[in-house]
Amino acid sequence: MKDLRKRGVLFEPLKNRVLGMIFEKASTRTRLSFEAGMIQLGGQAIFLSPRDTQLGRGEPISDSAIVMSRMLDAVMIRTFAHSTLTDFAANSSVPVINGLSDDLHPCQLMADMQTYHEHRGSIAGKTVAWIGDGNNMCNTYIEAAIQFDFRLKVACPEGYEPDAELLARAGERVQVLRDPREAAAGANLISTDVWASMGQEDEVAARLATFRPYQVNRALLDCAAADVLFMHCLPAHRGEEISHDLLDDPRSAAWDQAENRLHVQKALLEFLVEPAYHHA
Ligand code: CP
Ligand code: NVA
Repeated sequence: MKDLRKRGVLFEPLKNRVLGMIFEKASTRTRLSFEAGMIQLGGQAIFLSPRDTQLGRGEPISDSAIVMSRMLDAVMIRTFAHSTLTDFAANSSVPVINGLSDDLHPCQLMADMQTYHEHRGSIAGKTVAWIGDGNNMCNTYIEAAIQFDFRLKVACPEGYEPDAELLARAGERVQVLRDPREAAAGANLISTDVWASMGQEDEVAARLATFRPYQVNRALLDCAAADVLFMHCLPAHRGEEISHDLLDDPRSAAWDQAENRLHVQKALLEFLVEPAYHHA
């Protein structure tokens, strides 16, 4: 997808296909990658929010899924409770994509894995350090560690660990530590995320204090392997989870990572959405 776009090749397998995008939370990259992606693939995307659909007035998610999937070719949902996604999917006749839930953010990991591969080759057997909150991104790094066979060291404060079930599933591949320097030691990739995720606005002050020792800065990258890459799913809070200068460090791949959201989301759409000619 990236190569086709760079070469200006028109590739429109999803002509006449329509993606519905339900956003219960804010988004820049996810919305743009899916919306621009659908247009570039020859289709269209419709932005839906609870504020201006019947979802916000209490129409059950299951009823909404039945109706929406009769009109659309795929649905992307960004939601709070992960069960909203699974309830929707259980009632949908078309593919449903997780555009981020409180538990997981798989679309972001697709971009992270592509970015690592582009810069350094296969991630299998490498060591990744996750520094900070054991949140949706961290949980998805655990899934990725299983899927792509890398070692993951998570450094988080007590009480902010990732999902226990996922940790159990990952076994020895994933290690939870308290000291960010210990996690960073020898890492080939260091990744972090905001200290307060969407929906945790009430906890911001407490989290800022708790997470202070977990800032990723140049000194922390210096503890890692010589070929370390830094990633951040963005949006970033400079001066909090990263130092002010980190995105300018040559070891940061964050802008490529953000761009790759477009290419991987297009690949996902091409994979999931039936090409138009199948309906002819
Ligand atoms: N990384 C990411 O998902 O960004 P948005 O919240 O802007 O979509
Ligand atoms: N953990 C963050 C990721 C944002 C892309 C959140 O859920 O708000």
